[in-house]
Amino acid sequence: MLGNFSYHNPTKLYFGENALDFLNEELPKYGKKVQLVYGGGSIKKNGIYDSVVEILKSNGKIIFEDGGVMPNPTADKLREGAKIAKDNDVDLLLAVGGGSCCDYAKAVSVSAYCNDDPWEKYYVRFEEPDCKIIPVGCVLTMAGTGSEMNGGSVITNHEQKLKIGHVFGDNVMPKFSILNPKFTMSLPKRQMTAGIYDIFNHICEQYFSGDDDNTSDYLAEALMKSVVHSSLIAIDNPEDYEARSNIMWTATWALNTLISRGKTTDWMVHMLGQAVGAYTDATHGMTLAAVSLPYYRFILPYGVAKFKRFAQQVWNISAEGKTDEQTALEGLAAMEDWMKRLGLTLKIGELGATEDMLEGIADATLILDGGYKVLSREEVVNILKASL
Ligand code: NZQ
Ligand code: ZN
Repeated sequence: MLGNFSYHNPTKLYFGENALDFLNEELPKYGKKVQLVYGGGSIKKNGIYDSVVEILKSNGKIIFEDGGVMPNPTADKLREGAKIAKDNDVDLLLAVGGGSCCDYAKAVSVSAYCNDDPWEKYYVRFEEPDCKIIPVGCVLTMAGTGSEMNGGSVITNHEQKLKIGHVFGDNVMPKFSILNPKFTMSLPKRQMTAGIYDIFNHICEQYFSGDDDNTSDYLAEALMKSVVHSSLIAIDNPEDYEARSNIMWTATWALNTLISRGKTTDWMVHMLGQAVGAYTDATHGMTLAAVSLPYYRFILPYGVAKFKRFAQQVWNISAEGKTDEQTALEGLAAMEDWMKRLGLTLKIGELGATEDMLEGIADATLILDGGYKVLSREEVVNILKASL
């Protein structure tokens, strides 16, 4: 573990079939006014809304409804939510939903009392909050983003055609998150698999960087193996609690800052995927799946040793009698087979991207320098073309 770092994660987790009961332990810690953040209605269909409202009422809370948070929450919706929070002086933002609701609640928490436009301040200028921050709690209904235990908050601005993430600090991370794997059972298969690929890619983004011997990489390999194993059970039997519970737990550990310790981290698949998302509003995990293979095949020569290790450790590929590059490529081929078994979208064209958008998508792609190769703009365009 080279370098210097600190590690602290303030989010308390409650996990398992009875996890929602613990909302009763958390609620008394906050004032009476709760802004109930949720999405397009899935929680009303599967009964989670009723269960949560009952607990809020039995704890004497006054509820301020803030539904209709869309997948890939927008800057306009953020401004609306911030107004509800400020006008009603709410004491707690309770997000009940997937990553979009959790991300949005975090954004509202730092925007309600912000004197500036929150999009400009946090997502364009990347400034840190200097106003009162409202506490956030989450009841998670979709496994994937890790938003339940991190400071990430991704907001989309359709007018500017930008989808940008801000990673806030400890003071914005959820105070608690409730993880009941049963709550994810009503997810459509496509959302389940998008979430699974999101988890896997979060791990890849941190793993494919650096060349030192680093405990984070061993943890990453274990998490990747668990995701692959459980995903193949869940794709055949989505009702398998054991598999779904492992997927949910792995999602949290894939992106709660643990496995990035001592790593420079890459994140270019996410930068490409988010830019595609800004143009197509497509499901996050699918945007990642569609750009991953062209990206990894392109950077492989710059990080052969790590891609070889990935092939051997995660996909059980033998290196005997092969060059390092051959072994490494076989690892990516095994990953592609797995992605196909899950039915992931492997082309951005299938997500609504068209050739005439590629230059704009390239402009919207932030280029980062933590991975094995710093891309030029031309290389970004080439990867997008290969993903089309
Ligand atoms: O809106 P509702 O009706 O609830 O439906 C949602 C939505 O349509 C549905 N859903 C969620 N739980 C369900 C369910 N449907 C049936 N049963 C359930 N139990 O699934 C759809 C997708 O939900 P969403 O919250 O958008 O998905 P996800 O969890 O993948 O979140 C995506 C957002 O998170 C951001 C993404 O960019 C995107 O904006 N990310 C956040 C990160 C972070 N905080 O660190 C990192 C990620 O890389 C990601 O960028
Ligand atoms: Zn992601």
